[in-house]
Amino acid sequence: MTCSLLILNGPNLNLLGTREPQIYGYETLNDVAQLCHEAADTLGLQIDFRQTNHEGELIDWIHQARTAHAGIIINPAAWTHTSVAIRDALTAVALPVVEVHLSNVHQREAFRHHSFVSPIAVGVLCGFGVAGYRMAIEYFVHVFTNKK
Ligand code: DQA
Repeated sequence: MTCSLLILNGPNLNLLGTREPQIYGYETLNDVAQLCHEAADTLGLQIDFRQTNHEGELIDWIHQARTAHAGIIINPAAWTHTSVAIRDALTAVALPVVEVHLSNVHQREAFRHHSFVSPIAVGVLCGFGVAGYRMAIEYFVHVFTNKK
C-alpha cells in the first residue's frame, strides 16, 4: 500500500505570493502544492494538499484523515497561536504531525512565539520557506522506510 500524507494549510495562505512577500516569499500556494506533489512523486508517497480559511472545515479534514492517511503535515497559520480545537482534533486522530511555518515565527512578534500545536507535533520546521514542506515530506519517507 502507498503511504499517504494529508498536507493542510490554514487561513490566508491562499494569498501566498502577494501576501507580505518580504516575510512569506513570492511562491504562490499553487507553487507550494506543486513542490509537494513533485517531492511526493519522487519519493513514492501520495499526498492530499489542502487550504482553508474556515477552522471547522480544517477540523473536519483532520477527523477524516484518521482512516485515510498515515500522517499530517500542517501549517496552521494564525490558528497555530489561537486554536485549542485544532490541537484537540490532531490529538484525537492520533496520527503523527509535523508543523510547518514558512517564516521563523520566533524572530517575529511575541504572540507568534506560542504554538498550541508544537507540543503534540513530532517536530516543527519554521523559517525554511517552502523548503520546509519538502523537509517534512522527507521526514515521513524516512519514518515509513524504517518501519518496513
Ligand atoms: C505562518 C506564521 C503564522 O504566524 C502566520 O499567522 C501565518 C503564516 C508561516 O507560515 O510563517 O499565517 O504560519
